[in-house]
Amino acid sequence: MQSKDLVQLAEQFGNPLYVYDAEKIQSQYNRLSKAFSKVNKLRINYAMKALSNVAILQLLKEMGSGLDTVSIQEVLLGLHAGYEPEKIFYTPNGVSLEEIEEVNAMGVQINIDNLSILEQFGTKYPNVPVCIRINPHVMAGGNANISVGHIDSKFGISVHQLPHLVRIVENTKMNIVGIHMHTGSDILDIEVFLYAAEILFDAAKNFKNLEFLDFGSGFKVPYRKDDIETDIEELGKKLSKRFNAFCTEYGKELTLIFEPGKFLVSEAGFFLAKVNVVKQTTSTVFAGIDSGFNHLIRPMFYGSQHHIENISHPKGKERFYSVVGYICETDTFANNRKIAEIKEGDILSFRNAGAYCFSMASNYNSRYKPAEVLWMNGEGHLIRAHETFEDLLKNQIPLPVAMATV
Ligand SMILES: Cc1ncc(COP(=O)(O)O)c(C=O)c1O
Repeated sequence: MQSKDLVQLAEQFGNPLYVYDAEKIQSQYNRLSKAFSKVNKLRINYAMKALSNVAILQLLKEMGSGLDTVSIQEVLLGLHAGYEPEKIFYTPNGVSLEEIEEVNAMGVQINIDNLSILEQFGTKYPNVPVCIRINPHVMAGGNANISVGHIDSKFGISVHQLPHLVRIVENTKMNIVGIHMHTGSDILDIEVFLYAAEILFDAAKNFKNLEFLDFGSGFKVPYRKDDIETDIEELGKKLSKRFNAFCTEYGKELTLIFEPGKFLVSEAGFFLAKVNVVKQTTSTVFAGIDSGFNHLIRPMFYGSQHHIENISHPKGKERFYSVVGYICETDTFANNRKIAEIKEGDILSFRNAGAYCFSMASNYNSRYKPAEVLWMNGEGHLIRAHETFEDLLKNQIPLPVAMATV
């Protein structure tokens, strides 16, 4: 999609605004499928935490995708979007046994990531097919917050605890049908995936009834023009060969699963915001926009770099700006960023706004969450309305008048 389309959408739907390009999501899905076309049974489970709008879930369902979910609420959204329960995987961390039981009753594939719950669940439900999340102890990921497969991480069951895990499985006679791992996000080096895969293959040999191996996700996507990304095609070639060899060794054709979030939706997203004020100080020029980290928290949270363009005046002379939000504490989207000269009223577009952007948005400072639009077949479709004052009041219960006046 082009900048002029984004400008038109900002005029049509107002701003701030999230826009998602359906074609980009579809082409990423096809690219991943193609890279692993040598594997007979491939399954892609979209990690919906990245962007959980029901219309996006429907779009990916049409492509044949399954879902990776981490909470009972995500499971409910997936079912609401029309996914069959068996197309949904549930990979929670630190949730109660009660929540896992509730999800299990919905017929969704359960993935367990600690020994305590595994033992309790296996004792109660020995016949339910269960997947186990292994922690392979691999340090990988773009930053500490998104590196989740290392030895100090709270995720998964340590590979070093395999003897204990196997004992629980034998004692409870539970049915282990899958092994899973996910080592982090923003992993560039395919050797990391291949190395971790070997650990998963080794772990898999301990279980006789496997139907699938789930390699999680963590593919790095480009954030700028000419930025580097995980070489999916090369990974596809190498991992498919190794996976097929493992299946022969194991004596059964297993399903290979990935659960990408960022890879499918990051680049498809644009966040549009209007410049309220251009403020020259002694040290910098601030461009203050009609948004803040309440709408897009990744730069403040992870230090992530979203490429920013002035789509109202893209041809202007480039100048250096600090792009900031309206939240009443430090709220910086970018420092010393070269952007085509900005005038008050211009629309800025933030790239890579598909993954972990709207889904992490909040009402901090009592601001409304923005609308979301899906760009499909050359047209913008509203897929979430801009919030209103009623949304802020919803669920709030004022004190009765008598108490309020005491
Ligand atoms: C278990 C699990 N699977 C998949 C993902 C998706 O990762 P990514 O967005 O890097 O593809 C995550 C992200 O946090 C995750 O925790």
